[in-house]
Amino acid sequence: MGQVMVVSSGKGGTGKTTLCAGVASCLAAEGCSVLCIDADVGLRNLDLSLGMADSAIVSFLDVMEGRSSLDDAPASREIPNLRVLTAPMNAEPEDLDGDAFSALLLEARKKFDWCLIDAPAGIGAGFRFAARYADAAMVVSTADLASMRDAARAADALAELQITACKIAVNRVTPRLNGQMRTTVDDVMDSVGLPLLGIMPEDHAVTLAASAGVPLILYTNHGAAEACLHLARRLRGIKVPLMRLK
Ligand SMILES: Nc1ncnc2c1ncn2[C@@H]1O[C@H](COP(=O)(O)OP(=O)(O)O)[C@@H](O)[C@H]1O
Ligand SMILES: [Mg+2]
Repeated sequence: MGQVMVVSSGKGGTGKTTLCAGVASCLAAEGCSVLCIDADVGLRNLDLSLGMADSAIVSFLDVMEGRSSLDDAPASREIPNLRVLTAPMNAEPEDLDGDAFSALLLEARKKFDWCLIDAPAGIGAGFRFAARYADAAMVVSTADLASMRDAARAADALAELQITACKIAVNRVTPRLNGQMRTTVDDVMDSVGLPLLGIMPEDHAVTLAASAGVPLILYTNHGAAEACLHLARRLRGIKVPLMRLK
């Protein structure tokens, strides 16, 4: 059975979509079959980070309501093991049928090794819809206090949903900060109460790859892209040392 992992944060703009796309691409590039679901209803942009803006035409609502099947989820041209379902643009999270989404995820577990859900910011209805039926969570935070505090609230909300396999990824780490990283990581673990999955450096390539419409890991294999590979390998149970930034 495949694993369903929700990528959440509390605060917006911490890098959920970037990490969801990057980690999903790496899992797929290393041979896993992966389904990405954009659950940021009304604001979708996961398809851009996957370099699939033109081809991502099936939404998870299309599958939930029987207009399409999981087999119709478009595959990436460059990374064929990777498929995506976009978020519906004209729906409210409150109106979405949780049972139908749960059924979709049940089928996804049978067909894919991994299913990554890109959650909306916050801990409201959209977050609960995205997270409720997941097996695990990756909480994305930057190293600033506001982001960490919101990550802690997201961790509490995940615990309320009985999702206990939660880890944190700290994004936009700079070399200067990395010198103090032990303290920062300890702070994160203390305040958020989650073990560290990994760090991702601040990297211009993230923006450049997205504006070129190319998946980050095909744009470069250093920096943020390498960090995604490390995260993906750790998710698969492979030991990878914590990244050193130069
Ligand atoms: N490691 C990084 N280095 C540089 N820019 C980044 C990094 N991670 C994210 N960004 C940029 O930050 C913005 C927000 O990222 P995004 O993944 O959309 O966040 P979220 O999905 O949490 O709202 C985007 O413009 C993205 O390109
Ligand atoms: Mg996003």
